[in-house]
Amino acid sequence: MTDALTASLEQVVERCGDPTALVYERLFAQQPEMEALFIGDVTGQARGHMLMMALETLTDLAEGKAWAGNMIRAERVNHDQLGVPDAVFATFFAVVHETFRAVCDEAWTGEMEAAWTTVLATADAA
Ligand code: HEM
Repeated sequence: MTDALTASLEQVVERCGDPTALVYERLFAQQPEMEALFIGDVTGQARGHMLMMALETLTDLAEGKAWAGNMIRAERVNHDQLGVPDAVFATFFAVVHETFRAVCDEAWTGEMEAAWTTVLATADAA
């Protein structure tokens, strides 16, 4: 399962380089009121770091590492304080999934879809 997740990430990088802009474009299209929260992130560094941490967390979840669940629970509280409601927080992983599937297009495999569906369910349960 981790292999298919990694393969999807590699495919994304091969096709579009850094996917950060595409992920946040999709997020802000779905959750326009969240864009204002990133006003202080002038360079986009926090957006890039947040995406990297989210991807690392998903990979670790897929590998069964316990800290990943703790990371999600801690960030849920931190984000609530930032003004990101619980229900919105949980949508970020799905936005990444949708973005990656769209970028990979015909190269998106059944294994990739299965790996993402499974790991997102694990993240939801955390
Ligand atoms: C739609 C859901 C989410 C929204 C709207 C959101 C929003 C934000 C905002 C506004 C910041 C502060 C940016 C700044 O410093 O200017 C932030 C930082 C961060 N977020 Fe999220 N977040 C979401 C989901 C997540 C998820 C699922 C994770 C990972 C588990 C995550 C991990 C982080 C991390 C690690 C930072 C610190 C980045 C840094 O400053 O280097 N976020 N987020």
